[in-house]
Amino acid sequence: MSDPISTLSPAGDRHFDGLADKFAASLYGGARGELRLALLNRLLPEMLDLHGQPLLDVGGGLGQQAGWFAVRGHAVTLAEPSGEMLARARASLAGHEVNLLQAPLQELTQLAPGPWPLIACHAVLEWLADPRSALATLAGLMAPGGQLSLMVFNRDALRLSNVVKGNLEKALADRLEGKGLRKRLTPISPLTHAQVEAWSAESGLAIREVAGIRVFADYLREPPQSEADREQLLALEQRYCRVDPHWRLGRYLLYTLERPLRSSEEATA
Ligand SMILES: C[S@@+](CC[C@H](N)C(=O)[O-])C[C@H]1O[C@@H](n2cnc3c(N)ncnc32)[C@H](O)[C@@H]1O
Repeated sequence: MSDPISTLSPAGDRHFDGLADKFAASLYGGARGELRLALLNRLLPEMLDLHGQPLLDVGGGLGQQAGWFAVRGHAVTLAEPSGEMLARARASLAGHEVNLLQAPLQELTQLAPGPWPLIACHAVLEWLADPRSALATLAGLMAPGGQLSLMVFNRDALRLSNVVKGNLEKALADRLEGKGLRKRLTPISPLTHAQVEAWSAESGLAIREVAGIRVFADYLREPPQSEADREQLLALEQRYCRVDPHWRLGRYLLYTLERPLRSSEEATA
């Protein structure tokens, strides 16, 4: 008998069908969503070499990032397995020339093989049963010299925020990940920087840049009350998001990964 509250795909991934409203409200509806977009708006041009190249947005969700690239002149393909999220992306991207594809990452080798000079995959790997092989799949879609903007939910930050909230037993047992049940928005596979380093290397990708997204905001005792407080918090986030040790405890870790022009095997042959 199927589990009535499990929401996972046959591959064990959490497609966001049934979650679109909650996701839109809790991740983008409030100040933290605004902060995330403001930081990405500043960081993406700093961390990526952007010159209007075609972009594949994997797990593109509601389409904010696809829209951001489209207005900067990129020909955008947004791939997303959830019909519900894709319908919202279609509505929010009306007026932009964005190609929408209903497909999970695992099918893109067949459906959108590229090779792509630029791929974005933001806040997706943590919702997959096997993020390691997903990163290898993304590497296989990249053109030599291509860039991957990868953002992942940071497991180490999740531990700290649990401790800050007083969930000491959970933190001590290291029971941090969600189970993908009902409408919960705790990712099933939060990642560590060490995993990203190891899996990038085994997929032949070089880490060119790294930043933390929301290195302070999620640990505040009280959210900022006034516009002036919000501006000061943004200024702090911007100042320290690429500074060691602060970036390491960002709620999300943002990377620029590059597929070298020649693989190390070719270079030594
Ligand atoms: C947290 S949302 C992130 C959406 C968007 N990239 C953003 O940054 O706002 C995670 C998205 O990954 C999608 N997703 C889940 N499993 C996936 C898979 N196997 N392949 C591609 N996307 C997937 C979900 O449906 C959801 O839209």
